[in-house]
Amino acid sequence: MRVLAIETSCDETAAAVLDAERGLLSHQLWSQIDLHRAYGGVVPELASRDHLRRLLPLVRASLVEAGSAAEDIDGIAYTAGPGLVGALLTGAALARALAYAWGRPAIGVHHLEGHLLAPMLEDPPPPLPHTALLVSGGHTLLVDVRAVGHYRVLGQTRDDAAGEAFDKIAKLLGLPYPGGPQLAALAAQGRAASYELPRPMLDRPGFEFSFSGLKTAVAQRLRTVAAGAMTEQMRADVARAVQDAIVETLCAKAIRALQFTGHRALVLAGGVGANLALRERLSAQAARLGARLYLPRLAFCTDNAAMIARAGMYRLQAGEHDGLAVQVRARWPLEELAPPGSAEAHAARLPS
Ligand code: KG4
Ligand code: ZN
Repeated sequence: MRVLAIETSCDETAAAVLDAERGLLSHQLWSQIDLHRAYGGVVPELASRDHLRRLLPLVRASLVEAGSAAEDIDGIAYTAGPGLVGALLTGAALARALAYAWGRPAIGVHHLEGHLLAPMLEDPPPPLPHTALLVSGGHTLLVDVRAVGHYRVLGQTRDDAAGEAFDKIAKLLGLPYPGGPQLAALAAQGRAASYELPRPMLDRPGFEFSFSGLKTAVAQRLRTVAAGAMTEQMRADVARAVQDAIVETLCAKAIRALQFTGHRALVLAGGVGANLALRERLSAQAARLGARLYLPRLAFCTDNAAMIARAGMYRLQAGEHDGLAVQVRARWPLEELAPPGSAEAHAARLPS
């Protein structure tokens, strides 16, 4: 089986071709960062328009890179949610239209299932079951991954997602959008323990997170510094303190979840999974428990179509596909998913 995948849930336009035997044949990505920078965040209407502009050329480039013609494609996977509705609709409409024109099945993929299954593209893939920490711009979840499509959410954030906290605090520090990677780069110049910041919910039992208090604490700190008195070293020290607080909290809860499930494998996925401090610390802490950390390559932590191809292929291979109606979901709880090919999974598919 060979699958063409399309991802347009937020501000990256992506296309990929995955072959069941030969692996990933191509992946193409267009980032809209430059388009949204002037606004300090993603402008949904601009995102949709740019997806429309970029999508078909990107699909063609992906097919060319894969050395595939339309008739080589056995199915089309597209991100159906959660995400920005207008942005999702551009990818869904094109995917459905191509599938109709080519006489092939199309499958709507859950974006977070894509993130969770991204490490399945690596060698070796994580064994199942495993525990996953999924940290992106919109979500912070600890998941007991029993099997593909069988997800039990152990805990999530009560307010801001980890990536959102990185982005909002980066903005406070005057860093350009998107702030997460910028704050991480600045933190590399910072000194440890220069500022004390709270570790929200760390002392509470369970697997929940809360990151909005961190942003408030940083804002208060910055207000005590006289205008113009903030040196580059001070900004780097604050960035370091923020990163340390977020990384420490994420690691502590992820390790707690690993102990709870008893799994030997831990997966780190989502955009914040590209954070090197988090990757290193989590890897070391998992090893201390005799467990192994599985990571997607850096490019597949942030949004991409390869992960959508991987998730979609499991379902297409199990005979799942959507009808002709084009429908996307801004909100879509992960736990509504069912294993590929199961009666529940078929029942949840869109009508013809
Ligand atoms: O998964 P993703 O690409 O999009 C969503 O589905 O949300 O994640 C994007 C998030 C953003 O908040 C971005 O700032 C954050 O991931 N991010 C990082 C790093 N690279 C991306 N946060 C911290 N350190 C990084 N190196
Ligand atoms: Zn994402």
